[in-house]
Amino acid sequence: MSPERVDPRTELVGRGYDAIGARFSAWRDQIVGDPRRAWEDELVSRLQHGARVLELGCGTGVPDTQRLATRFQVTGVDISAEQVRRARAAVPQAEFMQADFTALELEPESFDAVVSFYAFNHVPRQLLAPTFAQINDWLVPGGLLMTALGVGDIEAWTGDWLGAPMFFSSFPRDTNTRLVREAGFEIIRDELVTFREPEGEVTFQWVLAMRPV
Ligand SMILES: C[S@@+](CC[C@H](N)C(=O)[O-])C[C@H]1O[C@@H](n2cnc3c(N)ncnc32)[C@H](O)[C@@H]1O
Repeated sequence: MSPERVDPRTELVGRGYDAIGARFSAWRDQIVGDPRRAWEDELVSRLQHGARVLELGCGTGVPDTQRLATRFQVTGVDISAEQVRRARAAVPQAEFMQADFTALELEPESFDAVVSFYAFNHVPRQLLAPTFAQINDWLVPGGLLMTALGVGDIEAWTGDWLGAPMFFSSFPRDTNTRLVREAGFEIIRDELVTFREPEGEVTFQWVLAMRPV
């Protein structure tokens, strides 16, 4: 990773996840009603065994990377060295990179699917559209993007989260949908899902999209 290229807000996110380490896992384990399992099942049903899957913002690798790595060749990317350390220990059969996915350079058409769960709401707004365009380029024609996006109209929020400084940012649903389309994707599913985090109810936008053949 070349630190000089990392946006300071993303650096803050990385340091935050380094600091909260196990606290994040304990917090995530208290979430009730997260639809990730059902959405992953749909992804699994659409991919061949052994497909190449890139996961952006993989965190500790649990549960998503772990589950996907039982069937696919998974590469996980995370900016936090501590989260990557945990992911490598939890999912030895996957590959991991400590990197800023908004600045990642990968071969075009080198993945069958790209997934990202609850990570794009840490991406500064102006970097989201270019990141979607990069993902489209990394996918083979017919390749899939599955993601859970924040839907709050949040330009930039910095503050304490789980005991460490953190940065969040997101667009409303219609803007998210437009940005995914403008990056070259066809939307297959686009749904708002509400569930319960320890602090209360939250809503995320789940999207399954395809790079057209
Ligand atoms: C809320 S956690 C989600 C982790 C995991 N996907 C899950 O659902 O449990 C967000 C993760 O995205 C990572 N992340 C955020 N922005 C990133 C970026 N630009 N590049 C790489 N990782 C990033 C954070 O370090 C963190 O591990």
